[in-house]
Amino acid sequence: MIRLIKGILASSIVATFLIQPVVAHTGDQEQKWITLGKDAALKIEKLIPGLLVERKKQSKSNDNAVSDNYVNLLEEKKKSTTIVVRAINTKRIGLLSIYMHRLFNRCGGFVVHSNYQAAQKHLKQTYGYLAKAKRRMLSETVADTYSINQQLLVTELLHQVAETQIRHTIAKLSAYQNRYYLSETGVSAAKFIKRQWAHLARNRNDVMVKLYNHDSYPQPSVIMTIPGKSKPNEIVIIGGHLDSINGGNPRLNSLAPGADDNASGIASITEIIRVLLNNDFYPERTIQFMGYAAEEIGLLGSSDIAAEYRDTNKTVVGVVQFDMTNFQGSTNDIVLMEDFTDSLQNQFLARLARTYLPDMQVGYSKCGYGCSDHASWTANGYPASFPFEATMDKLNQKIHSTEDTIAQSGGHALHAQKFAKLGVAYVVEMTKEQL
Ligand code: BES
Ligand code: ZN
Repeated sequence: MIRLIKGILASSIVATFLIQPVVAHTGDQEQKWITLGKDAALKIEKLIPGLLVERKKQSKSNDNAVSDNYVNLLEEKKKSTTIVVRAINTKRIGLLSIYMHRLFNRCGGFVVHSNYQAAQKHLKQTYGYLAKAKRRMLSETVADTYSINQQLLVTELLHQVAETQIRHTIAKLSAYQNRYYLSETGVSAAKFIKRQWAHLARNRNDVMVKLYNHDSYPQPSVIMTIPGKSKPNEIVIIGGHLDSINGGNPRLNSLAPGADDNASGIASITEIIRVLLNNDFYPERTIQFMGYAAEEIGLLGSSDIAAEYRDTNKTVVGVVQFDMTNFQGSTNDIVLMEDFTDSLQNQFLARLARTYLPDMQVGYSKCGYGCSDHASWTANGYPASFPFEATMDKLNQKIHSTEDTIAQSGGHALHAQKFAKLGVAYVVEMTKEQL
């Protein structure tokens, strides 16, 4: 086989020299820029030194920086998709075609550009496309990991999810005059959540809890990070907003207990954290728990964070939003919002509920607009889901008012407990060791 290829090559080289004998000898300086697969470039550079020329030897690392930034995961999976820019003598382009055809079975296999800038532009466009492909591939990877096989651990942990704990957190958070994004109590409430989470992580020096400050308002978001053991760069996120608002009177000192919207979501998340850390949980992927600032006035906190994650090319394999978990307005237990969410991940959540919470009724509904922080993640290309407390037609009528208290939910947190359970199952299955 190798001999055959060599034979073909030898004859094509001879043929090419016969057709274009001048090219090889005159040293014609006219050159074009091409983009081609790195695998092909490397092989051809070895076989015919000098056919392809890099822009400048010293700028090599610059050229590669683009691919390093964009391709990481893709490159791991499929080395041949990395593309590089090279110069070639115009008259030797025919020779390159033959090589590409013979060696790689690629018709063409490279793109000719009239100048270096055009080649660079093409490279960036291609990588823009590849970045999308990367996200697609990632969701395919995740589709494999949407398996459910952690019965032993999940079942044990679900027993530990305590309604009293959740009720307690709701009571504490809704006792603030408000958690408005501009008010002092809004800042204090965020710091309270940070302290609570840090307390739950007191025995773990690998777990970090930080305030995430925003430029244009005082309320910070809160982020807890449990680093992944084998895949620390793959992040799973559970979040909910920590602010509240008095919709009719949005002022610094208005009363806005926000027990359901969204002390309940933060309380469900806090309980997930408590149960995991009480059981010395060490995930394979990184888990982040987020309390977002300033959701009520336009998803501000989560927009900042999700945009930063996209801009810094972070790999987020899944996001779940808990916003309003304690008011059972409809007969369903868990309602998956179908718009501005990822349907594959939604299906996974439905299967998780069927598996681990078999008595729960799963329903579906739509907000009709980007109604909560999941929409910030969706907007930045990450797969997000929003399991909600009721269908839209049976909405808690008291949200954004002084009457959004735990009393409206019967004074208990039995509904929010279901969401904490779903969250525990989601985290365990999403961050397990892959087979
Ligand atoms: N918790 C609500 C979102 C919500 C309300 C979801 C009803 C499902 C049903 C959230 O805190 C909120 O109030 N969002 C705003 C929109 C946001 C973009 C300002 C809303 O719905 O008005
Ligand atoms: Zn709200």
